[in-house]
Amino acid sequence: MLPRKIQIQSLRIIEDEHRSLAAVLHGMLHMVREIREHDATPSFDAFGAMVYYIDAFPERFHHPKEDRYLFRLLRLRCPQAGALLDRLEEEHRIGAHKVRTLEQALARYQAGGDGEFPYFAAAVDDYAEFHWKHMGAEENEVLPLAKEHLTKEDWDTIDAAFLGHADPLVGIEAGTEFRGLFRRIVNLAPPPIGLGPEPKARRNG
Ligand SMILES: [Fe+2]
Ligand SMILES: [Fe+2]
Repeated sequence: MLPRKIQIQSLRIIEDEHRSLAAVLHGMLHMVREIREHDATPSFDAFGAMVYYIDAFPERFHHPKEDRYLFRLLRLRCPQAGALLDRLEEEHRIGAHKVRTLEQALARYQAGGDGEFPYFAAAVDDYAEFHWKHMGAEENEVLPLAKEHLTKEDWDTIDAAFLGHADPLVGIEAGTEFRGLFRRIVNLAPPPIGLGPEPKARRNG
């Protein structure tokens, strides 16, 4: 149990990383809805940047740090969290498959045209729904247990990992790289999601 005043940087970083992913998921859902309901022209550049971000950021960067640091230490300090952490680690593995499905659905939509749109839209809905639940469980179940059971030393270790100082697979440059990727999405996505070109309806009515 920690003294109340202590600042835990990794908690803020984890929540910020969840907000960034949520923003990208909202963006994709919005663009899919515009195509479905208003027959907007798809921006494959924006979809491509979003799927790339999802693969590069949560899948290769955020989840592995949760597994290796936050979940590992919480298992040691709070064995009763084991079943919850097993489930969330399994979801990290399932999420990796879902990103492949999303990538393939996007490639098929881009190459095959409108007939492939429903499959792509379903893959976006599925990934977004899956991740809301996943992030919700981490924020509402894991983080409260972590605040209660982890020690100051545990948080120092987790902070170092999430700040990018302690993880040789991630390195300190990664944060800058992901900010750049996020900016690219903002520049490509159509309004009101981003600053890209206004989407055009392909037919009237
Ligand atoms: Fe996670
Ligand atoms: Fe997470």
